[in-house]
Amino acid sequence: MARIFSGIQPSGELHIGNYLGAVKNWVKLQGEHPGAIYCVVDYHAITGAYDPAVLRARRWGMAKSLLASGIDPAQAILFMQSDVPEHTELSWIFTTITPLGDLERQTQFKDKSSKLESIPAGVLMYPVLQAADILLYRADSVPVGEDQIQHLELARDTSRKFNAKFDVAYFPEPKPLLTPTRRILGLDGNAKMSKSMGNTIGLLESDDEIWQKLRPAMTDPQRVRKSDPGRPEVCNIFQLHKAFNAEHTVAQVADQCSTAGWGCMDCKKVLLEGMVQELTPIRRRSAELDAEPSRVLDALADGGRAARAIAQQTMGEVREIMGLSGLPAT
Ligand code: TRP
Repeated sequence: MARIFSGIQPSGELHIGNYLGAVKNWVKLQGEHPGAIYCVVDYHAITGAYDPAVLRARRWGMAKSLLASGIDPAQAILFMQSDVPEHTELSWIFTTITPLGDLERQTQFKDKSSKLESIPAGVLMYPVLQAADILLYRADSVPVGEDQIQHLELARDTSRKFNAKFDVAYFPEPKPLLTPTRRILGLDGNAKMSKSMGNTIGLLESDDEIWQKLRPAMTDPQRVRKSDPGRPEVCNIFQLHKAFNAEHTVAQVADQCSTAGWGCMDCKKVLLEGMVQELTPIRRRSAELDAEPSRVLDALADGGRAARAIAQQTMGEVREIMGLSGLPAT
């Protein structure tokens, strides 16, 4: 059975783009793969300038959102990366087998570093730490979005290089398990949904807040009048229908749109209903966790212990393989 590992940056409370692009799939996978491991990667979030109080709030907000979304500590291991120091230990070891050129060629590094006057070495090492995250648990399946494919390639190279250098078959070659939902665009219908673009719907927003955002949201740009037939396949709202509504509703929406039976407002009202149905239990669980924050901390403490037990075992074996433990042969 494949071992699942995935990580998410502590960006605070989730928005529906993160939820549909990653977390909903994590929830599904935890039922199929007992012992799936999910990590809030706070060490990945400190490579730029940041405010410690904000990071503290975002770590908390992310852990709470994951639990509210249905990550179940009885089925999966949920933990905070910085609670397991073996991540940084393995990361150092991996820097010794990773060619600098491979890191400099990463598109994400090129994008980020081109905007910086002084580039912290951590920005370059980001994918090395990510490879350590995955291989510390010897995970072979990593549920991620397409933007992580290059990072996973690097993790596979790292695994191969380690195994070859020490002539062992120790680390597996982790493969991406691509999220089934297509990338969710922001409400403007242009860019990817992201907090920094201000085009998101938060996972915990009220029905009314969601409606205020859906009302002006971009639809098929060629549909000007209500009597114009729309093109569901180019409409961002239709993508959200596919994510939130049952197949028969999606089929009805496509039909009503392409025959100009419904206007965009009618269609958005049906979307709102689907969203409210899926998000209401998540908001309820989130409110429960706000009222009892120790449940989040307890879940993270248990998850951290479980993760660390696996991580320590791996590091013991890695040190043994590398000649970093034991007595010399006589
Ligand atoms: N780089 C990932 C992202 O930005 C987050 C991440 C860190 C991750 N470590 C990971 C994802 C390990 C999967 C596995 O989304």
